Amino acid sequence: MHPIRHAKALVRERLTNVVRSEVRAEMRTTATLAAQVVEARQAGASRLASTYDHTKSPSDEFYGDLAERLRGAGVHVQTKQVDVARFSDWAEGHPGLWDCYYGDPATRVEKLLEHFLSEESTRLTAGMAYIDVAAAGGHWVSCLRGAGLNALALDLSYPQGVHGWRIGADAQEIPLPSGSVDAVSAQCAFECFQGGADVGFMREAARLLRLGGRLAIVPLYVEDAHFIATSPYTIVEPGCFDEGAAVVWRDDEYDEPFARHYSPEALVDRLGDALGLFSETRVVHMTNLESLRERWPGSRLYAYFMLECRK
Ligand SMILES: C[S@@+](CC[C@H](N)C(=O)[O-])C[C@H]1O[C@@H](n2cnc3c(N)ncnc32)[C@H](O)[C@@H]1O
Repeated sequence: MHPIRHAKALVRERLTNVVRSEVRAEMRTTATLAAQVVEARQAGASRLASTYDHTKSPSDEFYGDLAERLRGAGVHVQTKQVDVARFSDWAEGHPGLWDCYYGDPATRVEKLLEHFLSEESTRLTAGMAYIDVAAAGGHWVSCLRGAGLNALALDLSYPQGVHGWRIGADAQEIPLPSGSVDAVSAQCAFECFQGGADVGFMREAARLLRLGGRLAIVPLYVEDAHFIATSPYTIVEPGCFDEGAAVVWRDDEYDEPFARHYSPEALVDRLGDALGLFSETRVVHMTNLESLRERWPGSRLYAYFMLECRK
């Protein structure tokens, strides 16, 4: 065959193979997703997140009982009353945040509360090196940078590597030197860490923080049963599920692929060793979210627990 024709035939054959294999992979994914959607639609209550997840219609009493169960499991739990007047002033002092959060006005105050609690807990001030981990979609870091703080945003979904104040990395493997950071937080994020990434992130935070540096995780999702809610619209690798956890379908308006909620016992079991890497650790239990609901009627507030660690 003429060399040019031969080359064309080769290229055609290679391209056909590539396209075929892409189409096959896409068909497999589509078939799996379709099967998941059908399964989720037909699932009984025991397979649906709404059966296990009390954050949708939260009650102070339910989470108060859980705080007792955490203590029974050996966790250091400290109660905290959010200072409503101070938080209210803080929210008014951050109009940029108030205006950009979020699609759902019912969770706007919850988002602001998470930022407020993280800032308070890590004692954020100008001059500190701070990383907001799993930050994509949030406005917190740009707000802090606007106020002159040295805040960095890290997320798995950003382009890999350090690009100015944005870091594309797994929370378990952050490309910064040990002891180089004053504060780390994860807001509305820790529950999304699949497989061993919850433990991996705790270990990585302990490595990154300088002595005396602080980590805040808010909310810390604790429920009476250990469960993982997954979206039928995404494929989660089977190896990412915790042993002993109920795996259920999300049946709310969000399609976040993965959300882990610990039982008090599962929390100790999974995170106990990693918590030992810090000199102080406590679960903070917010006991007056009802007062915030009275102040901002119609708000869905569920940051009952946060995890605070000091290196
Ligand atoms: C609900 S969003 C975060 C919301 C944001 N923190 C805020 O306050 O609005 C969860 C984020 O976690 C990120 N994520 C999930 N697993 C991660 C991992 N192992 N390392 C870093 N980021 C991760 C996802 O890419 C996603 O952007």
